[in-house]
Amino acid sequence: MKLKVYKDYNELSAAAAAMIIDCVKAKPEALLCFATGDTPKLAYEMVADRAVKEKVDFSGTFIIGLDEWMGISPDNTGSCHWFLHEYLFKPMNMDASQIHLFNALAKNEKAECDKMNKLIRANGIDLMVVGIGMNGHIGFNEPGTDENSLTHVAVLDEITKTVGQKYFAGKVTIEKGITVGLKQVMEAEKLLMMANGKNKAPVIKKAAEDNISTSFPATLIQKHPNGFLLTDNEAASELKQN
Ligand code: PGA
Repeated sequence: MKLKVYKDYNELSAAAAAMIIDCVKAKPEALLCFATGDTPKLAYEMVADRAVKEKVDFSGTFIIGLDEWMGISPDNTGSCHWFLHEYLFKPMNMDASQIHLFNALAKNEKAECDKMNKLIRANGIDLMVVGIGMNGHIGFNEPGTDENSLTHVAVLDEITKTVGQKYFAGKVTIEKGITVGLKQVMEAEKLLMMANGKNKAPVIKKAAEDNISTSFPATLIQKHPNGFLLTDNEAASELKQN
């Protein structure tokens, strides 16, 4: 794992955007897997902006959504679906055929997981962009998730349910989430984990310095052969070497 610390959220986001753009320039048919949330939002806006201005060709690229709140409609502004469309797909004018998001309203959860597993197995993920939850989760791979897990539906941790309310306009009941699994996260060619802000400092300290354990899934970044932990100064403020 390589740790990179940037001055602020803006610089962190610009660096993440550059890694995404560079990946697509090197491999235009890349399969990218993107988290949603407050952390990567600016990076995606920067990707969209640069892609348009610099005419970076994303027309052969495929994008998978890392996760989704089960039972939440895609037009709900708190859904991962809405977020990726709003900040990335619409500004970049991406074609529906390039986008693979979970159907959170699917009756057959297993079929929904199988579809994603098949896609990942056939192509392999070139670049994965993830945030870190306050409980160390990656996507909805909550503490204690099996390291060999593939795409699955998870019962959400209490912390995830509480923190997750911030994305929604009003109070919602969120019990389960569908997510790409830890095995697939770790098998991505490149793993980019991002965090910013003072409230993520204890989480970053654990992710980078605690023993590797699925009780805090973000620690797995330590053993990813091509893993990058990108933070701003505030999120890195509790690290030993900082
Ligand atoms: P955030 O979410 O980017 O909104 O902090 C991170 C996460 O839960 O993975």
